[in-house]
Amino acid sequence: MERVTTAYFRKAKKDGKPITMLTAYDFPMAKLVDAAGIDAILVGDSMGNVVLGYGSTIPVTMDDMVHHVKAVTRGVSRAMVVGDMPFLSYHLSREESVRNAGRLLQEGGAQTVKLEGGAEVADVIRAMVNAGIPVMGHLGLTPQSVNQLGGYKVQGKDEATARKLIEDALAIQEAGVFSVVLECVPTALARLITEKLDIPTIGIGAGPVCDGQVLVAHDMLGLYGEGSPKFAKRYAQLSDQITDAFKAYRQEVESRAFPGPEHSFGMDEEILEKL
Ligand code: KIV
Repeated sequence: MERVTTAYFRKAKKDGKPITMLTAYDFPMAKLVDAAGIDAILVGDSMGNVVLGYGSTIPVTMDDMVHHVKAVTRGVSRAMVVGDMPFLSYHLSREESVRNAGRLLQEGGAQTVKLEGGAEVADVIRAMVNAGIPVMGHLGLTPQSVNQLGGYKVQGKDEATARKLIEDALAIQEAGVFSVVLECVPTALARLITEKLDIPTIGIGAGPVCDGQVLVAHDMLGLYGEGSPKFAKRYAQLSDQITDAFKAYRQEVESRAFPGPEHSFGMDEEILEKL
């Protein structure tokens, strides 16, 4: 099966074919996402919230990301794997940023990386692209800046912040990103940005006008109930099914209904006699 590449993203925008992306953080989920024909798998730092149990993405480290990117890439044959650059992994120096991005490809096996920010990270993006690392941008609600943004809010609602978002989108496109995630921006602004850019926009909470969509798998599967955002449509409620299964197991163990003979192993009576 042919691998999804940055060329696929470019062609999809040209052809008006919506691009699909979901997060995954481990081998079994990556296999399921890939088998569903999703174009790209983001090993997002949202893992901090939905897998590692932190209150934000800020505690996630490079080592966490490499560990989970490795698990995901082992489960994927078609989808593009996008490794997320965690907090402070691309801010201290250009050299360290390129080295960290390189780890996600070289050690993790990802094809591309994603990082948050606009014009202020353009130089770092350029350096990564020059090193042969395809970069996806991320604008709007950028969760690593939650302390600066003052919470998880819709971005670009007034003229100044909307203008800044458009300028940032153009700046990172110029720096070489192959695509950009727009998170939590008004639909009309997402449309404007999508029309102005040659590269595809991938929306999350940015309306149906983007060139593609991404959701956090744990949100859309109903695996993570704490504060799921408005845009995270539920396609399943797996937490209920999982809790029911755990309760049924507990009840069967306590009543000795499990394990039954079909789950147990027999032994030769003669050998048993000798014992
Ligand atoms: O980390 C993540 O899952 C993300 C998506 C919300 C785009 O950045």
